[in-house]
Amino acid sequence: MELEQVLQFLCFLVLFFISFFMLRSKLWYCNCEICHAYVTSCWSLKFDNLCDWYAHLLRDSPTKTIHIHVLRNTITANPENVEYMLKTRFENYPKGKPFSAILGDFLGQGIFNVDGHSWRFQRKMASLELDRHSVRSFAFEIVSHEIEHRLIPLLSSFSSSHDGGGSVLDLQDVFKRFSFDSICKFSFGLDPMCLELSLPLSKFAVAFDMASQLSAKRAMTASPLIWKIKRIFNLGSEKQLKESINMIDLLAKEVIARKRETGFSTQKDLLSRFMRSVEDETYLRDIVISFLLAGRDTVASALTSFFWLMGTHPAAASAVRVEADRVLGPNQGLKNFEQMHELHYLQAAIYESMRLFPPIQFDSKFCAQDDVLPDGTSVRKGTRVTYHPYAMGRIQDIWGSDCMEFKPERWLKDSVFFTEDPFKYPVFQPGLRVCLGKEMALMEMKTVALSLLRRFSIHPVTHELSRVPRFSPGLTATFSDGLPVLVRERKTQPSCS
Ligand code: HEM
Repeated sequence: MELEQVLQFLCFLVLFFISFFMLRSKLWYCNCEICHAYVTSCWSLKFDNLCDWYAHLLRDSPTKTIHIHVLRNTITANPENVEYMLKTRFENYPKGKPFSAILGDFLGQGIFNVDGHSWRFQRKMASLELDRHSVRSFAFEIVSHEIEHRLIPLLSSFSSSHDGGGSVLDLQDVFKRFSFDSICKFSFGLDPMCLELSLPLSKFAVAFDMASQLSAKRAMTASPLIWKIKRIFNLGSEKQLKESINMIDLLAKEVIARKRETGFSTQKDLLSRFMRSVEDETYLRDIVISFLLAGRDTVASALTSFFWLMGTHPAAASAVRVEADRVLGPNQGLKNFEQMHELHYLQAAIYESMRLFPPIQFDSKFCAQDDVLPDGTSVRKGTRVTYHPYAMGRIQDIWGSDCMEFKPERWLKDSVFFTEDPFKYPVFQPGLRVCLGKEMALMEMKTVALSLLRRFSIHPVTHELSRVPRFSPGLTATFSDGLPVLVRERKTQPSCS
């Protein structure tokens, strides 16, 4: 037996005994109906996804709050509770140590992973930068360039393959590559060229993917002890995670060193901007890696479900095209990002798609001091409290009896887009820690949606179009079978993006 196998076996024995004693001491034990269904996974007999089961339980709960005792987790879909934890008593619901520990090796002290002073400092610095007009224009330039020079040529090549009959393309994979290229250029000034399918994926993209997947895997272990012991012995997934993080650190150091050599005072990417006020190399690396994680899979996920809904609701896709022709002119593309504010139906369709398919399906905080939520639920110090945008989008009391239908019109009054109470729709985490990339994400989605819908007809080729998609477990919602589509060029097209 090799040393690694011996260590794995010892690790297994340690975990077995820890689990045995915890069960005996009833630390993990609860036999209520919900906990029993959770522990035995028998919910999966009736539901495709864990989130669908939670949505069902939350819908049935009079307070719209439930407890998974074995996980010490309170889950809520009650807008008043959501407002309370994200705004009114924000200080009592930090991310907390358990979350920071899971992502700590990967994200370090980056904004996504810290509370208190460090969070406030980065938040202030990042908000100042992101609010600048020049940063928005820079992001728009990057996205438009990526669409025109990579995304459209790629889809065109698939549409004309097989003598014009087209071949199947996984749109989810394409959007992941697209959003990684865009967010890397925006954050680092680095082009990983993931959408160039003829090139092998860059080392950075591979390492980043691996590190985010393996960090998410930590969150799924029955107890943090499991991954912590594997980390001590440098075994299996923890060994892989360490290697990926080392690779990311090395590349980040290289980029920072190159910027110091060539000068960063006039460069527009976020790293160069932060380098003007922060010296510490590790801190700089951490800040930018958080942006990469926050802005990559979320946008890809939002685009994937949007195009799935457009494919299954052709009338809505056609309404987006009609509006674009009216506002921008037939055969005319977007000239600047201000023009997007006039596209009300498109904005409504994007909001509606994220109501049903929020990229972050649920998000947790840890209660710092004993408390009582507005619906009367008591929460003890140390309890994980989760708000659940996925379930909230599917609750009649919040969205009405047609809540399961995709209806962009629900966001329009006299054809003008209006926003709902943000705590009913916590897709971008309203309150004091609202997503910093919301405007950039909406710009990215609208630009891609317009460019692709006007130029191509895109048909999902799944056999059962009416079925709900299945999701893979992870930090962000991902269709487990991807989004296979057939693409055809349309006859009338805009002249540019
Ligand atoms: C449709 C796309 C997006 C959605 C749905 C989304 C949603 C969210 C949510 C729910 C959070 C809170 C996470 C938490 O605290 O646990 C968050 C935070 C954050 N997002 Fe986004 N996001 C999107 C795109 C982006 C993009 C493109 C960027 C980067 C430019 C970005 C940057 C951030 C940052 C920096 C935070 C941390 C804010 C803080 O902790 O103060 N997001 N986002």
